[in-house]
Amino acid sequence: MVGGGQKTGIIGWPVSHSRSPLLHSYWMQKHAIEASYERYPIDPAADFRQALEAMAQDGFIGANVTIPHKENAFAACDSHTQPAQNLGAVNTIVMRDGRLLGANTDGDGFIASLEAGAPNQDWRQRPALVLGAGGAARAILVALETAGLSDIRLVNRTRARAEALAPLCGQALSIGDWDAREALAQECGLLVNTTSLGMHGAPRLDMGLETLGEKAVVTDIVYTPLETDLLARARASGLVAVDGLGMLMHQAALSFEMWFGVRPQVDVALRALLVEDLGSL
Ligand code: ATR
Repeated sequence: MVGGGQKTGIIGWPVSHSRSPLLHSYWMQKHAIEASYERYPIDPAADFRQALEAMAQDGFIGANVTIPHKENAFAACDSHTQPAQNLGAVNTIVMRDGRLLGANTDGDGFIASLEAGAPNQDWRQRPALVLGAGGAARAILVALETAGLSDIRLVNRTRARAEALAPLCGQALSIGDWDAREALAQECGLLVNTTSLGMHGAPRLDMGLETLGEKAVVTDIVYTPLETDLLARARASGLVAVDGLGMLMHQAALSFEMWFGVRPQVDVALRALLVEDLGSL
């Protein structure tokens, strides 16, 4: 066993629904790492840096960060990885020698999920259409640009929110109207839904897929339900569908690697565990 007594966890407010403990505990067991992964609520009114210092003193070597603290975490860290710097948001903290390194694995996790779920597809060489302009869209847009795409199209119901993301990307990004989403899907090799449409309790995403390019990859960050109406229609049309569990698992794997120095595998048994856990919602 390695890592005895080390602590990791997820910081948020609230954090009771996070699936991160399940993911990290699975990998710790698999790699015989004797550490813990706890849920760690931090009140938005608290002094965030002070809370992190208290965690480090208490044996924490790292943490994930979720809503509403990703920007607070960025401000509290002493140094940052390039993706975190690009986004101004941190989802992974490494606590070492009294210093806090802020990282963001969301974008690389998204790309890793596409590589695993749609291997040998040529989406990098074709235009991409991204729907939505919230926190997840930010990470995905930067990741797509970093992956070398030269034509990234973004639409959002509230166009001003999409325009606010333009400084994140260079020339590759163009912004269109929400109502033009089907026209803008023309020739695209990748469609990404980052809106909440299609989630349990939300309306379905109203978008025809006929204009997408041949063998396009369609991915949804929504994973409740796992098979959204969008993904089901994509599969039925002969397109390649990648569900939202991929990004969840791969961003976590990259965090785990930062803390423990080993990249854990995203395997079928882990996916099955998550699917079972989602079923118990
Ligand atoms: P995040 O958690 O990623 O920050 P969010 O801020 O809740 O997400 O954003 C959810 C996304 O779903 C937004 O892009 C939102 O569009 P607006 O910016 O116009 O609010 C989008 N969304 C939610 N409901 C929608 C609907 N009925 N039609 C179109 N887009 C919708």
